[in-house]
Amino acid sequence: MPEKRVTFASKIGVVAAAVGSAVGLGNIWRFPSQTADGGGAIFILVYIGCILFFGIPLMVSEFMVGRASRANTAGAFHKLAPGTQWKWIGRLGVLTGFVIMGFYMVVCGWTFVFIFQSVSGHLSGVSDFPANFMDLQSNPVKQIVWMVIFSLLTAFFILSGVKKGIERSAKVMMPILFLLLIILAARAITLQGAVHGLNFLFKPDLSHVKPTVFLDAMGQAFFSLSLGMGCMITYGSYFNNRTPLVKTAVQVSLLDSLVAILAGVVIFPTAFALSANPGTIVDELVAGGPGLLFITLPELFNQMPGSMVWSTIFFFLLALAALTSTISLMEAVTLYIHEEHPISRKKSTLLVTAGVIILGVFSSYSSSFFNFLDLSSAKFMLPIGGFFISLFVGWHLDRKVVYAQLTNDRTLKFGMGFLRTYIFLLRYVVPTAMLAIFIYGLAG
Ligand code: TRP
Repeated sequence: MPEKRVTFASKIGVVAAAVGSAVGLGNIWRFPSQTADGGGAIFILVYIGCILFFGIPLMVSEFMVGRASRANTAGAFHKLAPGTQWKWIGRLGVLTGFVIMGFYMVVCGWTFVFIFQSVSGHLSGVSDFPANFMDLQSNPVKQIVWMVIFSLLTAFFILSGVKKGIERSAKVMMPILFLLLIILAARAITLQGAVHGLNFLFKPDLSHVKPTVFLDAMGQAFFSLSLGMGCMITYGSYFNNRTPLVKTAVQVSLLDSLVAILAGVVIFPTAFALSANPGTIVDELVAGGPGLLFITLPELFNQMPGSMVWSTIFFFLLALAALTSTISLMEAVTLYIHEEHPISRKKSTLLVTAGVIILGVFSSYSSSFFNFLDLSSAKFMLPIGGFFISLFVGWHLDRKVVYAQLTNDRTLKFGMGFLRTYIFLLRYVVPTAMLAIFIYGLAG
């Protein structure tokens, strides 16, 4: 019943929802620590290359699989390739969605704890920031409470439906997020000494290149664009027939990269400007890893006048970004259960929420479980998903369907060279890169 299925109502809604999925903890929690580790500007250059050559083609493909089938992740493969085993790629995607939510929701919970600590003034009284974060990490019950609250909040938007829940929330939250980020970036670059941070971000320094920078950037690009598990297939299934797939993928990728780089513009100038010994700040950032957001950054905010305001804005921003991403993850998994089984949308939402909470409880108790979920999704499950999705569109999907989807039934014009390049990338280049990440994951 393709014609009866819901679609997003507006063009802005389409972009907002997809950007909402892409922009998340990945941009603000992961990207800066990866950038520090990867040598700053060099990492960013490689990252942008990965977005152009691998991210955008794969995103277009996911949108295509979704819209051509108008079905959930597994149903999509089932419809486009009936009687084959491709549906397992969709099922793997659903499992991946669970695995990602299983650790992601815990970090989402932390953002709420830190909003609370900022607003209540607790954070401005802290003197030992690593201990403040350790206190949280060694308190599973507190983490669980906030993780549950975040999961229920996500479920609330899923229950409100595709238009009223997903699309509307993204249309409201994404502009706020951009505004807050620009305010913070303006504050950061006007700090004295900010220029060193900007140099680190934008001036390539070849002495910092690591041989693995390409693979790290690729994995990050992939996670950040929400590719490889079917989030974008699911959202693509809600696009109407006039939504331009290539243009939308380009817009989403640009905005996602812009947010990641702006997050860098907030974090690095702040770190360089306010650090007691700027000489070692990069090492500290690398050593701090993703924890940097919850340790280094509040510590730095505390040295600025009006610290409460800045940290409240920052953690609120982080929570907004995270929420639109958890909504997309939960939607992909919920839609699968709802469409592939005789279970109502409401019941499947509750089922998924319960499953996520169970994984979240384990992740809160055990950091090795948390890391296991994080690594197995980023290093194995997503690259496998991406590998097969690109092979599916490049080799298996009827070329007529591919062209009809790309050109919206010949209403959009693309040169033959463009179409050939797209297919070439999907057939050979993207799968090779996915395989490389996978092998690199095994080796590491
Ligand atoms: N892209 C989001 C982020 O950067 C996380 C995310 C949402 C995701 N959906 C996904 C990652 C699907 C991989 C696959 O935080």
